[in-house]
Amino acid sequence: MSRILVTGTAGFIGFHLARALLNEGSTVIGIDNFNPYYSPELKVARDEILRKNKKFVSVNADISNLALVETIFRDYKPEVICHLAAQAGVRYSLKNPYAYEKSNVQAFVNMIEQARINSVERFVYASSSSVYGGNTKLPYSEEDRVETPVSLYAATKRSNELIAYTYTHLWNMQTIGLRFFTVYGTWGRPDMAYWSFMEAMQHGVPIKVFNYGKNQRDFTFIDDVVNGVISALMRKNLDQYEIINLGNNKPVGLMEFISTLEDLSGLKAIKEMVPAQPGDVIATYASIDKASAKLGFKPSTLLGEGLQSFVRWYKDHPSIVEAVRKFRLSNINSQVF
Ligand SMILES: NC(=O)c1ccc[n+]([C@@H]2O[C@H](COP(=O)([O-])OP(=O)(O)OC[C@H]3O[C@@H](n4cnc5c(N)ncnc54)[C@H](O)[C@@H]3O)[C@@H](O)[C@H]2O)c1
Repeated sequence: MSRILVTGTAGFIGFHLARALLNEGSTVIGIDNFNPYYSPELKVARDEILRKNKKFVSVNADISNLALVETIFRDYKPEVICHLAAQAGVRYSLKNPYAYEKSNVQAFVNMIEQARINSVERFVYASSSSVYGGNTKLPYSEEDRVETPVSLYAATKRSNELIAYTYTHLWNMQTIGLRFFTVYGTWGRPDMAYWSFMEAMQHGVPIKVFNYGKNQRDFTFIDDVVNGVISALMRKNLDQYEIINLGNNKPVGLMEFISTLEDLSGLKAIKEMVPAQPGDVIATYASIDKASAKLGFKPSTLLGEGLQSFVRWYKDHPSIVEAVRKFRLSNINSQVF
């Protein structure tokens, strides 16, 4: 692939994807607004790594601003798009709904409309396991009805899938939506449990174990996810409209997750058992039959292996870890414990 525009490259998944695409020789135009949902220092550190490659173009822009998006398309003429930038996080969507409207709906329409106007070949975008919401049938299949999002975050992700459907229907534009399931790994997200628990354990701060530890998540390692996204960008066998789960197909209970993290880090968690949070789903579990058939997707990283590499990375990056912690302590929105 020659010239690809990736949004959210200072973010966790976008950073890893851009790095892998650059390693394969592609030119990557990376857009991010480096917003302070979590430590911008972490975002800048990821961006600095990408900038070392001459084929990476870093654009600091807010894609909810249509004029900026128009300029970027005019200047860089991307052939393929992987749209990952979004306001992530389920719980934060109860606190700040407008951030989701702006970055997940308005920005999505800007990106897909400009992709249409500029005859982009393929529009790949991030959806989420959260669209399965209140569904109780497991594993979650792309064939299941998804009409009960239980958070605004989930509702905006589902709306992306519906908007993409309309663009395929009206203009035969190729749109590929990827439903990610709890992605984790090195250079990860400080608002997610694997990082915030590690930080709390390191500093002797109690962790809140929601739903008394009964939640289950289909933790999916970043390298496996990146392989799936690259297939979604490149494979020739895909239909014009696709929705595909990218999960690990092996859900793990929260208590097992915590004890694995304790074993690998040599630290002890102080657990505060609390009820389920509004907006949370009890279990996520991906059927990956479709991903396997269409993308050759085969997640191969066991939770113990993936967490091991995160723990090693965390211990090897004390200054970034400390910057993230300082930012968390001084920003009420970032306090997830
Ligand atoms: N990590 C997961 O487990 C997971 C699970 C399901 C879905 N997703 C989705 O995958 C995508 C990537 O997630 P991530 O984990 O890398 O999150 P992230 O927050 O680390 O990355 C998102 C990036 O987008 C940028 N961004 C947000 N709004 C923007 C805007 N208006 N203009 C420009 N840049 C903007 C942020 O600064 C951030 O760097 C998101 O769409 C997210 O909703 C992630």
